[in-house]
Amino acid sequence: MENRDNLIVEMSNITKTFFGNKANDKVNFTLKRGEIHALLGENGTGKTTLMNVLTGVYEPDSGDIFYKGKQVYFSYPGQALAQGIGMVHQRFSLVGNLTVLENIILGNPANSGYLNLKKIKKELTAYIEKYHFQVDLDSIVDKLPIGLKQKVEILKMLVRNVDVLVVDEPTTVLTKQETDNLLVNLKKIAESGKSVVIISHKMKIVRKIADRITVLRKGKLIGTVKPDEVSSEELSMMMVGKQVGSVMERKVPPTTENILAVEGLHVHSDKGILAVDSLSFRLNRGEILGIAGVSGNGQNELSEAIVGIREIRDGKIWFKKVVINKLSVREKIDMGISYIPSDRIHVGVAGQLSTWENVGLKTYRDAKYSTPFGLDNKKIKKYADYIVEKYDILQPGIEFPSLLLSGGNLQKVIIGREIEAESDLYICEYPTRGLDVGATEFVRNAILELRNSGKAVILISGDLDEVFMLADNIAIMHAGHFVSVFPNGKYNVTEIGLMMSGVKEHELPKQLEK
Ligand SMILES: Nc1ncnc2c1ncn2[C@@H]1O[C@H](COP(=O)(O)OP(=O)(O)O)[C@@H](O)[C@H]1O
Ligand SMILES: [Mg+2]
Repeated sequence: MENRDNLIVEMSNITKTFFGNKANDKVNFTLKRGEIHALLGENGTGKTTLMNVLTGVYEPDSGDIFYKGKQVYFSYPGQALAQGIGMVHQRFSLVGNLTVLENIILGNPANSGYLNLKKIKKELTAYIEKYHFQVDLDSIVDKLPIGLKQKVEILKMLVRNVDVLVVDEPTTVLTKQETDNLLVNLKKIAESGKSVVIISHKMKIVRKIADRITVLRKGKLIGTVKPDEVSSEELSMMMVGKQVGSVMERKVPPTTENILAVEGLHVHSDKGILAVDSLSFRLNRGEILGIAGVSGNGQNELSEAIVGIREIRDGKIWFKKVVINKLSVREKIDMGISYIPSDRIHVGVAGQLSTWENVGLKTYRDAKYSTPFGLDNKKIKKYADYIVEKYDILQPGIEFPSLLLSGGNLQKVIIGREIEAESDLYICEYPTRGLDVGATEFVRNAILELRNSGKAVILISGDLDEVFMLADNIAIMHAGHFVSVFPNGKYNVTEIGLMMSGVKEHELPKQLEK
């Protein structure tokens, strides 16, 4: 039996239904004071819903919640927050055109009335230093890379001085090093007596940091375990209910047929500074070029310049031997360039549109889906059903807004749509970020399949394991250009880590060289 005195939160028999779909089905969950408790499970298994119920985003259909020994009924997040339960959501709630400082002050009741900006700034700076956040308080949030936006969200909750901090998939947008930092920070928070719930589908991270792990599968509680009581195999079996297979093999080497050439590319960031600096490279059909690097080193600007949503300041891009500098996004799509962006909500889909409409965004020019009078919605819906089926997308129905999908399922909608578009070049930014084990394997296989069928892929990833697993060649991007490009296998993780920090190939310590 659990010692109740130790518990700060006890949720029992929580059921929450959306459109007849049981997101939580009689789930029990307890949180101890000072512990880090991980909620682990595949995408769409109800982790976020359970914590939304705890934090007052949703009221449960049935079940009880006890907080600090008393039964509570929160009907909106502000109520929970006022009592010390705060959640950092996976999707950002930041106001893009305000500064970091303004975003952190915004909506904090402690800041009502007269604002002593100097004092607030001093306090915040102390937090920022304490947690090594490296955020500039005066930056406009919209201009920050996605990783920094996430940090602002976490910072926002920390300054509210919560007793229970829930973080929803916090590491998905962070680099390896940022993740390690964050884990240390979360540990510190827990050591100070606060309780932390980390929602994650990443077993490795969960095992590293959690005192206890609660696994959900398809809305149901599978069990609560301590990390050292279970093996990774057992844990993944708890998550997926089946053994996960391995990534498929590459059948053939890349072709020698060039499809993309970039020469002396210069691209500016939103701030107007040089983000891509004299970058040159070539990509062949049947090749995956993995771009590894700390995010914010020009990766995003590079993709945007290629797909045509960011101005090219200097240099040339050839696609299928044609200079495409001046072409529109639509013309580039028609030529066969597909983009799977890292910011899925803002760039990848129109959240307020339904799943079928989002799928239809890419079909509107295709004669197959048109009638003489315009689009054939029936056909597009059928096609959406097909994508939902083929890509195993868990969703309440193709008529519902895509915003209602969990992150992984949303990604599957985009990936499905782009793969089915049969392009020749795929630019994939963090394609498995936020996905569970099964979906990650699916996406990686899909990328390899694209490669094996002669398409070219640029894979931008913060996950070195993923780069090692998929790339034919690896480029290390730092400060706007490639520090080096080499065949996968030439350097190990340590060497690549060094190059990611700007060390050049010839400067690598001798003893590390193979
Ligand atoms: N606001 C909502 N409206 C309708 N369905 C929802 C809503 N929130 C979540 N769901 C559905 O509930 C299920 C669980 O989702 P979620 O809790 O986000 O899972 P997880 O966080 O484990 O990925 C999914 O099928 C999801 O589509
Ligand atoms: Mg979730």
